[in-house]
Amino acid sequence: MKSCVLMFLGLSLVVMGAGAAQVKSKANVQRGEEVYKSLCWTCHGNYGRGDGPAARYLAYPPPDLTDPRVFGKKTDQEIVSGLIDTKSQTGPSHRTMVIGDVLKKEPLQDAIAYMRSLSVPGKRASISAGKDIYDTFCSACHGAKGDGRGPAAKNLTGVKPRDFTSKDFVVVGHEQQIKQTIFEGAAKTFHGSPYMPEWKTTLTEEQITDIVEYLKSFKKK
Ligand code: HEC
Ligand code: HEC
Repeated sequence: MKSCVLMFLGLSLVVMGAGAAQVKSKANVQRGEEVYKSLCWTCHGNYGRGDGPAARYLAYPPPDLTDPRVFGKKTDQEIVSGLIDTKSQTGPSHRTMVIGDVLKKEPLQDAIAYMRSLSVPGKRASISAGKDIYDTFCSACHGAKGDGRGPAAKNLTGVKPRDFTSKDFVVVGHEQQIKQTIFEGAAKTFHGSPYMPEWKTTLTEEQITDIVEYLKSFKKK
């Protein structure tokens, strides 16, 4: 009986703990974005690809944070202590500047939480880069919300721009095929609408991969 009560207590603590961690980490990512965009981006780049304006003057290149292997299985705690203790054997170092001396610990932890959000598990892609490219090149027809009602859509005759919020537009598992459509345009690969141009002359493969990851984030109707 006693062990049963203890088990219940333990379980609810775990559940409560998980809930609290979730709420906290959400807030952290937002504050972390502010910290990141005020300082870290100058080297680490807008999307964490290590191509910020200061990066070319550095003695060591910043890592590509869209590669999920950079942080791997390290906990936030391990990363932060690696940044603070530059001689740490286990954590990463920050040879370029002693970042742990520049920032207070809280904003540093927030920035790390944000940096983590820059990668997609198992892929080398950037959802925030995908959003910016989509808003620039695709939203005119497909709409900023992905509903196929961009400002240019009403002037198109024939096949309407695809509605990415429709339940039957499934990206997961079809990434390769969708990439191909974007690459070659619909005229060659799809229903044949000439309005969906080929993008291989305008965008790189990396950019198209980024867009495809972003397409997954549209809310379904
Ligand atoms: C002056 C350029 C510069 C600035 C500014 C900068 N970094 Fe870095 N950062 C680097 C470089 C270069 C590396 C690669 C490792 C090294 O040089 O020791 C790095 C590596 C890292 C890593 C290690 C990744 C790993 O595990 O290998 C983290 C985490 C990191 N930086 C966080 C930050 C945060 C947070 C900020 C802003 C508060 C920041 N950096 C600002 C240049 C910079
Ligand atoms: C000038 C308007 C226009 C622009 C700009 C445009 N599209 Fe399209 N898109 C269309 C139309 C029209 C279709 C429907 C084609 C068809 O069904 O034949 C389409 C279809 C698609 C499809 C096929 C969806 C499916 O069901 O497999 C994808 C993916 C797509 N567009 C992605 C993009 C991306 C990414 C961009 C920006 C890089 C973009 N489109 C820009 C008009 C446009």
